Amino acid sequence: MYLQHFSFAETPFSLTPDTQFFYAWQSHKAALNTLLVALNNSEGFIKVVGEVGTGKTLLGRLLLKSLSPQRFVTAYIPNPHLSPDELKLCLAQEIGVAVSDHVPAHQLTALINSRLIELAQAGKQVVLILDEAQTMPRKTIEALRLLTNLETEKRKLLQIVMLGQPELDHMLARDDLRQLKQRIVFSETLKPLDFMGVRNYVAFRLHSSGAAHSQLFSLLALWCLYQASQGIPRLINILCHKALLSAYAAGKPSVDFACLRCAIADTSEARWTGKLWCLQFTGKWWWAYSLAGFSGFLLTLVGGR
Ligand SMILES: Nc1ncnc2c1ncn2[C@@H]1O[C@H](COP(=O)(O)OP(=O)(O)OP(=O)(O)O)[C@@H](O)[C@H]1O
Ligand SMILES: [Mg+2]
Repeated sequence: MYLQHFSFAETPFSLTPDTQFFYAWQSHKAALNTLLVALNNSEGFIKVVGEVGTGKTLLGRLLLKSLSPQRFVTAYIPNPHLSPDELKLCLAQEIGVAVSDHVPAHQLTALINSRLIELAQAGKQVVLILDEAQTMPRKTIEALRLLTNLETEKRKLLQIVMLGQPELDHMLARDDLRQLKQRIVFSETLKPLDFMGVRNYVAFRLHSSGAAHSQLFSLLALWCLYQASQGIPRLINILCHKALLSAYAAGKPSVDFACLRCAIADTSEARWTGKLWCLQFTGKWWWAYSLAGFSGFLLTLVGGR
């Protein structure tokens, strides 16, 4: 592939949420800080919401890495589309309770409770991280709320972090879930990157993968990338990967507008604004469009600073 061509040590735009490639964009940094501060202060319930592909799973993995095992015991459930009993069973296994699949529900709760007390006495805080929290059935959410009732006189025995798509907010807006909603102490929203964010994100990922120089993408290519991805990291990765492939196939030393145009044309999820920009730069009236577009581009650039 293009690794050798661009002297990369590894693929810069892989779709796997790899913490080594974490770019501390304002919104992600703020969410991570809130999570760390809240957990260190033993706050009960925290929620992080973000559109598809904005980096929730990556944030969850980063959080797991950032919590010191001397102080925290973590339980990570990547897919909580489970019944209440299945959720409890997963939690029990994650925090080291030896249970079989056939333990009755009431016994399971008692076992979890005594294990949580044991861990609290050993000076450990237990954090349950639920990714894809918007997929949780209503009854399971209720079971989750009851689990957070477990507490000592001083603090909660279980802290919960919910990571989910905006549907999670819609779900929590339901009247019958207001009790749980009221317990959410901190909420954060992951926002897409702005133009400067996209530029720095691309440079950062190129640098992290060992690229000799991080200005591999022309400014115009980056602008079209921003328009076509609307700053969503997963879309940025998909488009950059395809644009690099296109540059490699054409034997080019860097990624120009033409490579980005190929990538956008090949990606059905690319936003229409990006497709429009590609048209602008290739159509008959390209110079007129470009003049108008360039003014907009400069305005955004100035605004992004
Ligand atoms: N701040 C960031 N720094 C570096 N890469 C990021 C960042 N945010 C997201 N990504 C990358 O974007 C891609 C999508 O991230 P991730 O899978 O975490 O999104 P998600 O919000 O969990 O998506 P979904 O809603 O589909 O579950 C991954 O390749 C991830 O590495
Ligand atoms: Mg995810």
